[in-house]
Amino acid sequence: MNMIVLENVRKQYQSGGQMVEALQDFSGAFGAGEFVVITGRSGAGKSTLLSVIGGLIRPDAGKVSVDRQDIWALSDAERSRLRCQRMGFVFQFASLIPTLTVIENVMLPATFLPRGEAGLGNRAAELLERVGLKEQMRRMPWQLSGGQQKRVAVARALLHNPAVLLADEPTADLDVETENEIVDLFAELNKSGTTILLATHNTDLVSRATRHLVLTGGRIARAS
Ligand SMILES: Nc1ncnc2c1ncn2[C@@H]1O[C@H](COP(=O)(O)OP(=O)(O)OP(=O)(O)O)[C@@H](O)[C@H]1O
Ligand SMILES: [Mg+2]
Repeated sequence: MNMIVLENVRKQYQSGGQMVEALQDFSGAFGAGEFVVITGRSGAGKSTLLSVIGGLIRPDAGKVSVDRQDIWALSDAERSRLRCQRMGFVFQFASLIPTLTVIENVMLPATFLPRGEAGLGNRAAELLERVGLKEQMRRMPWQLSGGQQKRVAVARALLHNPAVLLADEPTADLDVETENEIVDLFAELNKSGTTILLATHNTDLVSRATRHLVLTGGRIARAS
């Protein structure tokens, strides 16, 4: 079943007096359980696509459905709820809260979940162990390297066991070994049912995907 459906989605930006077509009449669907790797040159629209699916950037035209709900027809509160309950995000750029410790950052999504989520503290610690940062749990973000911060963001995205993981260059600052560990973790999650959309410049990751999309100028140039 298609979990995410985009129909004729369009997003333009005004940039320095010029119109940039970040997504041009984009149509496509993502099934539950897929692991889709999205590549394409810088500026091709990868981050915009993930943000539109995640309900973070409103498209200028077209329709985005998640679980058969037109997400841009929902109220802000309903869209937030859907996001908090179903989606996990790893953003392209550093996104940790500087005044919170590593484990507090990982626990952050719990703030937006209904009560009765006891045990999330343990889960946060477990996830930090899986991304190799158990020892750094009580540190502040500025005491970590860029790659370590990325790994914290991965752990945070997984706290509430999201149905869909939207990962924007999650391994960009990592060494090859750590990158492999993160991708192994994604593959494991995918096996247990998590749908994953991963934007990257690393074409080596394509071999781990169930599908590969190449974007050019805000459109799908190639799919395999
Ligand atoms: N907030 C913005 N204001 C103006 N233009 C933007 C904005 N965000 C993105 N763009 C433009 O939209 C196009 C698509 O950007 P997007 O960030 O989606 O590309 P990308 O494929 O993720 O690139 P990268 O590989 O560099 O992360 C680019 O031309 C970019 O300059
Ligand atoms: Mg990007």
